[in-house]
Parts: sequence; structure tokens; C-alpha cells
Amino acid sequence: MAQIGYSEKVMKHFMNPKNVGIIENSDGYGKIGNPVCGDLMEIYIKVKDDIITDIKFKTFGCGSAIATSSMVTEMAKGMNIDEAMKITRNNVADELDGLPPQKMHCSNLAADALHKAIEDYKNKKKPK
Ligand code: FES
Repeated sequence: MAQIGYSEKVMKHFMNPKNVGIIENSDGYGKIGNPVCGDLMEIYIKVKDDIITDIKFKTFGCGSAIATSSMVTEMAKGMNIDEAMKITRNNVADELDGLPPQKMHCSNLAADALHKAIEDYKNKKKPK
């Protein structure tokens, strides 16, 4: 299989993604569609004292989408929600030792779905 342009880390996360699945009764949920390719990503988080204690994702996307989601969940787990809000697609790509330029749009999904899940959590927490 030719994998030109993908780092070893991308391949590792793609072949063996971490935190795949859903969380029943999650504290926050984010779903994002990628306008470029039409792929979809969902992220579920559990939060305690503003720390992300558990996180899972489901994606209907390409290999880069799977690798970036896996990486973003690894990065965000154990993080304070405000810190996790600051994770950008570039941070995720850097952690993966880079993505081919034509695949950078895929990493939008992971960071955006995470931010959406955190916003959902914050909205639910707001006093009604
Ligand atoms: Fe759709 Fe990568 S091609 S997320």
C-alpha cells in the first residue's frame, strides 16, 4: 500500500484509532459536517469539574479524519475545557507530524467537533 505523504503517526492512528465509539449520557455532544467532502464527525465528552474525563468519537470520513479524531481525543482527554477550546487543527496536525496539504481540511472536523461538544456542555450547564 503506498502511503505517500502520510507520517508514521497518521498511519498509526488510522490503523489503530483511539477512543472510537459513543458515550451514553454524555455531558456534551458535537457534530460537524465537512463542507469540502461531505464527511461527518461526532464527538461525545464526559466532564467533571471542567475537566474532560472521557471522550469518544465516531466519524464517517477518510483516513485523515479518523487519524485526526483519534489524535484530538487523545490530546483533549484530561484537559480543562477552556484549554481544550484552544486546540486548533494545526495543533492536531502538528501532533501527527503533519498532514499532506490537500488533507488539512480533514483536520477541521476533529477540532471543530470537539469545540462544539464543549459548547454544548457549557450551554447545558448554564442556569435556565
Ligand atoms: Fe473528508 Fe477527509 S476527505 S474528511
